[in-house]
Amino acid sequence: MDLELTQAQLDMQKLARDFAEKDLLPGVVERDEKGEFPLELFKKFGKTGAYGYPHAEAYGGLGGSYVGYALAVEEISKVDASFGIAFSVDTSLYGGSIVNSSAPDEIKKKFLAPIAYGEKIGSFGLTEHTAGSDAAGCKTVATQQEDGSWIINGSKCFNTNGPLADFTVIYSLTDPALGTKGMAAFVVEKGTPGFTVGKVENKMGIRCAQVSDMHLDNVHVPAENMIAPPGKGFQLAMKTLDGGRIGVAAQGLGIAEGAFEIARKYMMERQQFGKPICKQQYLAFKMAELQTKIEAARLLLYRAALAKDTGKPYSVPAAMAKLTCTNVAMEVTTEAVQMLGGNGFMKDYNVERMMRDAKITQIYEGTNEIQKLVISGPIFR
Ligand code: CAA
Repeated sequence: MDLELTQAQLDMQKLARDFAEKDLLPGVVERDEKGEFPLELFKKFGKTGAYGYPHAEAYGGLGGSYVGYALAVEEISKVDASFGIAFSVDTSLYGGSIVNSSAPDEIKKKFLAPIAYGEKIGSFGLTEHTAGSDAAGCKTVATQQEDGSWIINGSKCFNTNGPLADFTVIYSLTDPALGTKGMAAFVVEKGTPGFTVGKVENKMGIRCAQVSDMHLDNVHVPAENMIAPPGKGFQLAMKTLDGGRIGVAAQGLGIAEGAFEIARKYMMERQQFGKPICKQQYLAFKMAELQTKIEAARLLLYRAALAKDTGKPYSVPAAMAKLTCTNVAMEVTTEAVQMLGGNGFMKDYNVERMMRDAKITQIYEGTNEIQKLVISGPIFR
C-alpha cells in the first residue's frame, strides 16, 4: 500500500496552494462581506487548465488524476471555500456530467474543452424546489420535436455558478409518467431564448459563490445537446454526484485545515495567565483530537479519489469521505472560533467565515443524511 503522492499530484497541490495564498487570500474577507465572485481570478486560475485537470485529454482536459484534483480543491478551500465550490462544480458536476455521458466524443470536447481552461463556466441543474434529497421528484419536462430537437420547460434551484454559467446541464423528464426511467440530460447554453437566471440567493456562507434559480420557458435545445438519452439521465446524475461528493469532501477538508492552522498559530501567540494558551493542556488536547480527525478524514478522501482513479467502485467511499470531511469541517471551525475567543467571532480573523462556509458542505451534493443512505444500503445487501 503506497500512501505517497506522485510528483504530478504534488505539482497540482503546489499550483493551487500558491494561487490560494498569493491571489485568493488578499481580499477574501471583503469578497465575503460583499458576496462578490472573483470572476477575473477564476479565469486566471483556469488558464492553468485546472478545471479540466482530471478529465481526458481527448475532451480537452489535462488527463490528470482525481487525487490531484481533490488536492487542488483542498488547497483552494483552505483559503476561500466559495472559490473551492465554484471550481468543484465546474470540474466535477458540470465536467463530470459531460465526461460520464454517452455523448459522442466531439460533443464532449465541444462542451468540456472551453470549461477546462476557464474560457467558459459550467453549472449543474438537477435540484428543484420540490425535488431536493428526492432528486427523482424532478418536474422539468423536455418534449421532443419532429426534427429531433427538444423544448424544455421547468425551473431548477440552488444552481452553483448558475448566474455565471455559459453551459448548464439540465436534467429533465421526457415522460413524466415514467419518472426517472424517462429522465434525460441536456446542455443548455446561456442566451438560449427562454433560459433565464432567477433569484440569486443571499447566503449564510460561501457568500462569493453565485447560486440561483434557473428558469426554462419553452427553451429550444438542438438534438446534439442531449448528453443522456431518456432513461439514462438519472444514472448520469447519480454517477456524477459520486464524483462531486469527492470535491465537496476536499472542500470540507480544506476548510477544516485552514481553520486549524489559524487556531494553531493564534494559540502559540496569545498569552493568558502568563503563558501562551497552547500551554493549557485542555486546549492542546483539543487540538490533538482535531488533528487526528483531520488526518482520518484525509485518508477517506484520498482513498475515495484513488478508487475513482483506479477504476474501482467509489460511490460508498465518496459518501464516506463527504460525510466525514464535512462533519470534521463543521467541528474544527466551531472549535476554532472558540479557541480564538472574542477574536474568533470577529470577521478579521477568518474563522467565523470558515464556520459559516462549513455548514453548507454538510448539506449540498446530498445531505449527510443522504450519504448515510448511500453507505447503509450495501451493508444490508
Ligand atoms: N451511480 C449510477 N447509478 C445509480 C447510482 C449511482 N451512484 N445510484 C443510483 N443509481 C441508479 C440505480 O441503479 C437505479 O437505476 P435503475 O432505475 O436502472 O434500477 C436508479 O439510479 C434509481 O436508484 P434508486 O432507486 O436508489 O434512487 P432513489 O430515487 O431512491 O434515490 C438517492 C437515491 C441516493 C436518495 C438520490 O436521490 C440522491 O442522491 N439524492 C440526493 C440528491 C443530491 O445529491 N442532490 C444534490 C444536487 S447538486 C447540489 O448540491 C447543488 C450544487 O450546485 C452544489
